[in-house]
Amino acid sequence: MPDTPSPSKQRLAGLSLLRNAAANRGTAFGLEARAALGLQGLLPPAVETLPQQVARVMDNLRRQATDLDRHGYLSALRERNETLFYRTVLDHLGETLPLIYTPTVGQACQEFGRHFQTPHGLYVTASDRSRIRDVLRHWPRDQVRVIVVTDGSRILGLGDLGANGMGIPIGKLDLYVACGGVPPAACLPVMLDLGTDNAALRDDPFYLGLRQPRLQGEAYDQLLAEFVAAVQEVFPGVLLQFEDFSNQHAFALLQRYRQQLCCFNDDIQGTGAMGLAGLYAALRLTGEQLTGQRILFAGAGEAALGMVNMVTAALVAQGLSEGQARSRCWLMDSKGLVVASRHDLAEHKRAFAHEHPPVAELLTAVATLRPSMLIGASGTPQLFNEPVLRELARHHARPLVLALSNPTSKAECTAQQAYEWTDGQAIFASGSPFPPVTRAGKTHVPGQSNNAYIFPGLGLGILASGARRVSDAMFFAAAQALAAQVTETDLANGQIFPGQERLRDVAAAVATRVAEVAFAEGVATGPHPADLGAAIRAMMYMPDYASLPPA
Ligand code: NAI
Repeated sequence: MPDTPSPSKQRLAGLSLLRNAAANRGTAFGLEARAALGLQGLLPPAVETLPQQVARVMDNLRRQATDLDRHGYLSALRERNETLFYRTVLDHLGETLPLIYTPTVGQACQEFGRHFQTPHGLYVTASDRSRIRDVLRHWPRDQVRVIVVTDGSRILGLGDLGANGMGIPIGKLDLYVACGGVPPAACLPVMLDLGTDNAALRDDPFYLGLRQPRLQGEAYDQLLAEFVAAVQEVFPGVLLQFEDFSNQHAFALLQRYRQQLCCFNDDIQGTGAMGLAGLYAALRLTGEQLTGQRILFAGAGEAALGMVNMVTAALVAQGLSEGQARSRCWLMDSKGLVVASRHDLAEHKRAFAHEHPPVAELLTAVATLRPSMLIGASGTPQLFNEPVLRELARHHARPLVLALSNPTSKAECTAQQAYEWTDGQAIFASGSPFPPVTRAGKTHVPGQSNNAYIFPGLGLGILASGARRVSDAMFFAAAQALAAQVTETDLANGQIFPGQERLRDVAAAVATRVAEVAFAEGVATGPHPADLGAAIRAMMYMPDYASLPPA
């Protein structure tokens, strides 16, 4: 793996320097450096600047045939020259994010085995029982401060992709670096391969994971416990982000570990904060109050539960009782409206089961409840069909429609459909990007309601404060910080999230608020700088050869 020890630890030279992604500068090595480091003859004669290299990368990138090819091209670049990769991503966020993250990362995961070239990150498997700490110690970088881990059991809305899910922790950590300014050496993607129940995958000749059914019950819990203990021992104080675990385990893992270590579940808590921020921004557009909304969540899994809990907390903060707050929020799952008479409800849904006759169809739920906000987190494409959206728009002048499901193929509706079927009334945002829509002479710019607005800044704030725990108040603060980043111009375009090119500024703002909470709650271990915001900005990694040890 090109990720040999950090360049500062050992003096690299010659080909091993060019093969070390963390230290490599390629054609940007100057003539003196080439002479001193044994590079003469190993590079073409031209000496280039980082911007010139970025221009070549973008030229090549745009000439690739498909987005999946572009994803592969950028992944290969990360393994050759980390600085150039992150600089390219940072300078062209709007263009590169959909390639390294949703939606392209979905297809990249599905076809992971077919396109695999170079390993990246760590694989911890069911066969590693009793030696997980040794596996973690194989990671060559010792400054790890953030781990994103998945067991591949619910990758985006694509289901169980087993070890192919590795693309997700890698993509998330790329955003930590590019948007959150967390140094690459601090990031460790982990795939917990505990088997897969996806039989087609197990039969796929190119599949690279364990070909066995998933661990279940106690065996699963024991392996997770060993993993968490090993993480704490090998990387003490690290921030552990649980990502794309199926809801069979996600809620329980969060419950079990959130008071024990510095961890969070992005699908539940990150989505909650992102959703609440979207609601706040939408209310700025309509001039209405959160307390006056009726919100229908289509989906009652991790994402919807994360949001509904965050929204009720916000309502309680505005003076409503817990019961009043819950009465504003309705959940619907694959079996229908979540109502008190149902006997099949998991614990985490029961608090939102209202007294109401059963309703099986979304259209009937919309007609009966007349929600002002319809939020899709169902992984079900086209759930928001024409009758549903027309019914929604019949009752509200400016209904909010969030089609959060990823990737694009799973979105509850497209931007075009949302605007068309509500005659342009909808305030719309989606998890995966859609292009602007022009109808009746007006251009609507759909926002991208994605956790990328929350977790990089949250992680940065945790690192900056040295927080020992991740609290609900931090997500609340993150939501407020994100909503405050939406400008009047964004709103005038109908956008309830800032443009992606501002993701780094958003991360800095979110990080500052999160760190403030960490200090206020007494969970910070670092010194409190006089100007927290400035200190956070100053610590953000900038992909630049000047930040590498001198060559
Ligand atoms: P999950 O598997 O925990 O929950 C899915 C829920 O949808 C379940 O409650 C299921 O019963 C329900 N459902 C399925 N079909 C339905 C139907 N026809 N009508 C109503 N409900 C239905 O999954 P999770 O983690 O909640 O994620 C759901 C989707 O949200 C995924 O596609 C995921 O990619 C996306 N998501 C997007 C985020 C973003 O940043 N935009 C963040 C987190 C999740």
